[in-house]
Amino acid sequence: MRGFIIKGGTPLAGEVIIDGAKNAALGILAGSLLTDDDVIIENIPDVSDINLMIKAIGNTGARVDRLDAHSVKINCSTIETYALDNDDIGKMRGSYYFIGALLGKYKQASVAFPGGCDIGSRPIDQHIKGFEALGANIKVESGIIEASTKELKGNHIYLDSPSVGATINIMLAAVLAKGQTIIENPAKEPHIVDVANFLNSMGGNVKGAGTDVIRIKGAERLHGSTYSIIPDQIEAGTYMIAAAATRGDVVIKNIIPKHLEAISAKLVEIGAEIEESDDSIRVVATKRLSHTNVKTLPYPGFPTDMQPQISTLLALSEGTSIVTETIFDNRFKFVDELARMGAHVKVEGNSAIIEGVDRLSNARIYAPDLRAGAALVIAGLATEGITTVQQIEYIERGYERFDEKLRGLGAAIAIVNVDDSNEVEKFKLRIV
Ligand code: EPU
Repeated sequence: MRGFIIKGGTPLAGEVIIDGAKNAALGILAGSLLTDDDVIIENIPDVSDINLMIKAIGNTGARVDRLDAHSVKINCSTIETYALDNDDIGKMRGSYYFIGALLGKYKQASVAFPGGCDIGSRPIDQHIKGFEALGANIKVESGIIEASTKELKGNHIYLDSPSVGATINIMLAAVLAKGQTIIENPAKEPHIVDVANFLNSMGGNVKGAGTDVIRIKGAERLHGSTYSIIPDQIEAGTYMIAAAATRGDVVIKNIIPKHLEAISAKLVEIGAEIEESDDSIRVVATKRLSHTNVKTLPYPGFPTDMQPQISTLLALSEGTSIVTETIFDNRFKFVDELARMGAHVKVEGNSAIIEGVDRLSNARIYAPDLRAGAALVIAGLATEGITTVQQIEYIERGYERFDEKLRGLGAAIAIVNVDDSNEVEKFKLRIV
């Protein structure tokens, strides 16, 4: 089985460059369906979820030209089908954005129910409520969501919870609806603003993204655009925690520091040093860090996508920390893997009570999902000796060249067949 093999214990040092935001790219790629003109999207991350999304766009009959690893030109004037219902598409979360985009442009869509990481119950009732409010008929049958209407009409939509997916999906459909749509209690994550900016660059009229009310005036048509995606806040945050956990000194470049405030504040609180500049953050940790409490919340609160990483850091910090997960109901699966490494973490309801230990020990561990997988790699990097992390397909959904970027910071990490003792021995010989 493919896995990361890590010889930990070396403080990370140097510079790492952050790629484009995966969760913004998913919405923006789907948004390219809203016009018949050419759309060029730059700074897309070269990760498996995005590559699957691009492949799915090609499967509709659209012309897709991968200009290089990080940019793609899409022309959707040749779309032949509004059905995206194969097995591949059902594996990913971002597939739900095809419903909003196809409904917006063609007034019909047939899309496989979205998959994605198993981090708890992930209903899409708020997406459906939004589409219905715009006048669509929605039917869910045999794992397929069918959406259709003669005409989409703007409406007032109040989201019960500030869902990232529902906010983006409703924007995608409403941007070509007749009249005005108002989304109240929308998500405010940086990728919401990025998708809105992209739609506006195509001639859309979306105002208020990033605030408590989004107002969308439906356009007659959208035109082509060349658009560059914002940096990935979660990729950046993951390297910040990796620097802190290994007592390293890392400059994380090509980022928007404001998007990382919740993470920076927690790191400062537990004793790390943070230096911010316009588009980079330096994280320095010279000693064992201290305990704190963390509660995940919608942006600008502490992101759920950083919860496994900070929990891992706190498992190595001094004292008792409590981490409360309020967004997803099953995002502590990695705790069992950390326990194999000697961490003292007890999960009670939606909180993890973490008694920091001063060192972890090596183990063969499994990535249960994308962010938890990254957190377990951090655990391996912070631990003397050899750790292997398997099921890295999860990690590859959202981290571009994770091993290569970590090697650039001095980490001893490689992808090997962890069941092949020759490959493991070769790695050990290489790093001594
Ligand atoms: N929710 C509902 N009904 C809905 C939609 C959401 O009750 O119709 C609830 C969810 O159950 C959850 C909360 O609202 O409790 C937030 O869910 P949200 O819709 O915001 O999440 P998502 O769209 O499923 C996206 C990201 C996740 C990220 C969350 C929260 C994508 C493809 N996925 O998921 O990213 O954790 O927002 O920020 O954008 C990841 O990248 O590792 C990842 C899991």
